[in-house]
Amino acid sequence: MAAPLIGHDLAPLDGALIDRRGRRVRDLRISVTDRCNFRCVYCMPKSVFDHEYNFLPRANLLSFEEIFRVAHIFVDHGVEKIRITGGEPLLRRHIENLIEKLAKLPVELTLTTNGSLLAKKARALKDAGLTRVTVSLDGIDDAVFKRMNDVDYPVGDVLDGIEAAAAAGLAPIKVNCVVKRGSNDDQILPLARHFRNSGHILRFIEFMDVGSSNGWRMDEVLPSADVIARIHEEFPLEAIDANYHGEVAERWRYKDGAGEIGVISSVTQAFCSTCTRIRLSTEGQLYTCLFAQGGHDLRGALRRGAGDEQLRRVIAAVWRERDDRYSEIRTAATALPDAPGKIEMSYIGG
Ligand code: GTP
Ligand code: 5AD
Ligand code: SF4
Ligand code: SF4
Repeated sequence: MAAPLIGHDLAPLDGALIDRRGRRVRDLRISVTDRCNFRCVYCMPKSVFDHEYNFLPRANLLSFEEIFRVAHIFVDHGVEKIRITGGEPLLRRHIENLIEKLAKLPVELTLTTNGSLLAKKARALKDAGLTRVTVSLDGIDDAVFKRMNDVDYPVGDVLDGIEAAAAAGLAPIKVNCVVKRGSNDDQILPLARHFRNSGHILRFIEFMDVGSSNGWRMDEVLPSADVIARIHEEFPLEAIDANYHGEVAERWRYKDGAGEIGVISSVTQAFCSTCTRIRLSTEGQLYTCLFAQGGHDLRGALRRGAGDEQLRRVIAAVWRERDDRYSEIRTAATALPDAPGKIEMSYIGG
């Protein structure tokens, strides 16, 4: 899976860091664990992620010091936003210690969580310097939510987590719902009703063909245009401008002033042309695309004693070689569940 880095070391470092499609690196997503206490049907189906599944042994995980070193170099290269992901990042022991380190960097520092540990940890995360959180929530009806997380986790506890995060000042909170047609699309309107006037930003994500175990099928993708049409019928909406160049969510606001929602349409309207994201996996592989077939082994370089300058050059070389645009060129063949070499979302980080 990992490509050797030999040969990158001598890459020149002068000039701006731009990939082969003219994109800069702005957004670093760091996965801190491949484990999760949920088994969402579209991400970690129980049939694959069972008690025999081999999660990463602890020695393979990047330490907080190693993560900080890499993050620091990315910030020097122009990264403005760092997102902590997983698996479920709040399962990583002493995660607030990592937040505290990363908060020293001049970046927006965010985290994506399933919300189950948020009621307990929101205050400590805020105190450690986290800017805000994004919470995954695939239904508001308890039975549907339990069916989606597949571990019988009650929706009320996640809603408590969201309120604890808001009370701690981790706002604005974004609430992400992955829509699977026929499974939870009946939750679109109830979720919209629930979060209107809450100040939280609800976003609907098209079900993607990440990894090779979630049994993805195009007919289970509900296009964002349909999501918007359904909500618009009950609560009229109007489109609003993006907050920043390359924002993945398309923004809409309720005409009656009840707030905004978003849709993320990576299947029906790919956004690769403005993709400024790079991903660092739990064990220190660098991936230039969510759908990359292989990573670049930074942990090896770190543990062989590479100096900062050498790491800087390696990272620059990886970004400059980047040519990814999977979602733009996705075809029935590349999206097949048994297509070779696709990395699981819980490993690479959402
Ligand atoms: P903020 O604007 O800072 O809140 O972050 P964001 O809009 O990037 O949102 P977030 O990181 O929560 O991403 C939301 C979802 O969009 C992810 O969970 C993925 O499902 C999808 N997504 C994010 N980045 C990419 C990407 O680079 N490629 C694809 N195909 N999907 C992505
Ligand atoms: N399709 C779309 N989004 C996904 N996520 C995980 N798996 C998928 C998928 N197959 C995203 C969701 C979740 C985050 C952790 O990862 O947004 O909230
Ligand atoms: Fe866990 Fe998030 Fe994947 Fe669900 S989507 S299984 S909460 S990592
Ligand atoms: Fe970026 Fe790859 Fe997602 Fe396209 S598919 S937006 S290149 S991560």
